[in-house]
Amino acid sequence: MIQPHSSSALNGLYVDDADARTALREEAQTLPTLLLNSPAAANAVMLGGGYFNPLSGFMDKADALSVAQNLHTRSGLFWPIPILNLTSAEEQVQPGTRVALCDPNVEGMPVLAVQEVESVELLTDKEIAQVLENVYRTTDPQHPGVATFTALGRQVVAGPVQVLNYSYFETDFPATFRTAGQIRNQIKSHGWETVVAFQTRNPMHRAHEELCKMARDTLAADGILIHMLLGKLKPGDIPADVRDAAIRKMANVYFPKNSVMTAGYGFDMLYAGPREAVLHAIFRQNAGCTHLIVGRDHAGVGAYYRPFDAQTIFDEEVPPGALAIQIFRADHTAYSKKLQRVVMMRDAPDHDSNDFVLLSGTRVREMLAAGETLPVEFARPEVARILMDYYRENKPFS
Ligand code: ADX
Repeated sequence: MIQPHSSSALNGLYVDDADARTALREEAQTLPTLLLNSPAAANAVMLGGGYFNPLSGFMDKADALSVAQNLHTRSGLFWPIPILNLTSAEEQVQPGTRVALCDPNVEGMPVLAVQEVESVELLTDKEIAQVLENVYRTTDPQHPGVATFTALGRQVVAGPVQVLNYSYFETDFPATFRTAGQIRNQIKSHGWETVVAFQTRNPMHRAHEELCKMARDTLAADGILIHMLLGKLKPGDIPADVRDAAIRKMANVYFPKNSVMTAGYGFDMLYAGPREAVLHAIFRQNAGCTHLIVGRDHAGVGAYYRPFDAQTIFDEEVPPGALAIQIFRADHTAYSKKLQRVVMMRDAPDHDSNDFVLLSGTRVREMLAAGETLPVEFARPEVARILMDYYRENKPFS
């Protein structure tokens, strides 16, 4: 089985031992509290589940800047995106103390983790702009990831964490939320060696389904991990429970039994395009996958990234040997009216755009909002039905 990122064993920061967990929970009652923001809470969940192995907690300012600029921590660990507990500068947090980190996404704001505060530092405006430019390739406040990041505050609270639970993910998505360690165990019990991961924040349409099948066939993979984001998204994206239902239906009906695992991870979408693709690769390696599909506009939003920037970053900014997982590069994929099947455009050089069934995300939403059926060339009828029911009941865009 593929090794975790930069380590021989997976080191999730969730406190596995029940007695130790009880003791830590009791200690937390005596500690000063800090209410996390959602991205920091999601970072804690990812650290807890081993996805961010081998990190031991939240980065300090120097590591955050080093990662943003050079994709390495000061100690030389390859890492593409700062993993931060950013707070407002008004929060009083003392270096050298232990703090109970409270969960903003669960009623009653229970303790999610305990942090040993090693340092508390402020980012300057210039440093914030630099991190944004490096990570998001823009400082445009219209970019949803930039807007989120800049609203978090400028105080970097750094230090190791011990995680007590997986927030709302394990309660709201018991059948889908899985830690990296759990996925590794499932892969082991299936006896799979070559495992292709498919990242998604969308319900899966024909193109997504075929991408998975093309990757599986090309790589002679033993199995596919459909790995969906369960955290926060920008307005307009399909909520996780609806997406989960649509993906499960598609996997059950259209994939051979025991060839696909459907699971989710507890993280908010960053929309950081290429840099997020590299983070996606790292945490799929931690989950035991040998390959990650990276297609068109992976983790992108609007026109901030070129369609294949999330692929070229692996040539241009990931040093050879930094990752063990490999990328399966997919070209723009769509249903060909001429060939009557879904193809990658690079495999149909004689086609022009009219030869494909192409629907933008906006058009799909308009059709669903108007109660129109999605073409079978675009979406499986079972998937379209779940989405239509959601739009009929919720009218999210009317
Ligand atoms: S993402 O933000 O999670 O990347 P999405 O769920 O839309 O968004 O995409 C999941 C994966 O499928 C990404 O690797 C993306 O590049 C790829 N993808 C989605 N649609 C297409 C398409 N039509 N052609 C090629 N790749 C695609």
